[in-house]
Amino acid sequence: MEFFIDTANLSDITKAQELGVLDGVTTNPSLMAKEGITGSSKILSHYKEICAIVNGPVSAEVIGTKYDDMISEGKILADLDEKIVVKLPMTSDGVRAVRYFSDQRIKTNCTLIFSAGQALLAAKAGATYVSPFIGRLDDISVSGLDLISEIRLIYDNYMFNTKILAASVRNSAHILGCAKIGADVMTSPLSAITSLLNHPLTTSGLDQFLKDHLQAKNVAAQPV
Ligand code: E4P
Repeated sequence: MEFFIDTANLSDITKAQELGVLDGVTTNPSLMAKEGITGSSKILSHYKEICAIVNGPVSAEVIGTKYDDMISEGKILADLDEKIVVKLPMTSDGVRAVRYFSDQRIKTNCTLIFSAGQALLAAKAGATYVSPFIGRLDDISVSGLDLISEIRLIYDNYMFNTKILAASVRNSAHILGCAKIGADVMTSPLSAITSLLNHPLTTSGLDQFLKDHLQAKNVAAQPV
């Protein structure tokens, strides 16, 4: 399973890249706003900065909601860097735009997926990625991981090339659940990725190793 980081924060992207496990980045207008990135020139240069850090796909979301606006915005984003994936919402205009960019061989990420039917439609339109939001489904007491399973079954039935990019991933249990089901990619904040590092037995085991090492060193250093 590929690991994407879901942020527009350059420091977090750099940390994940340095950890050596990062395959790509996803952003959305809320994440860009959180970093204070507004106005088209600032937005475009921020995407360029992200592309310079990461060696993989970078999802950049259009703001326009009308087909023509999505096309013109998506073209500008795609021209920025070959790593850019044009992120489009699951609406009628968004699906039409997915088909347009797919026909142009430009990568797309169809976002705000909350049902298997939406994921099927995005795959039919030729989306490179679909982003089912599992955390937001869990928030309304619907199993997000069950949706990932359903999409996996449907895509495997018909050998769709569209990759399942599990989004709105909030914790390590989500990441493991996605990996068990066979999501192609998961995107999460840095905290969910680094939480995979932690286990109390690792911490106590390492403490003991270091204590034993120091004790043996002190014994060896004592005069006979
Ligand atoms: C997906 O691409 C979105 O950016 C993201 O995963 C949404 O996550 P949230 O529900 O935690 O905001």
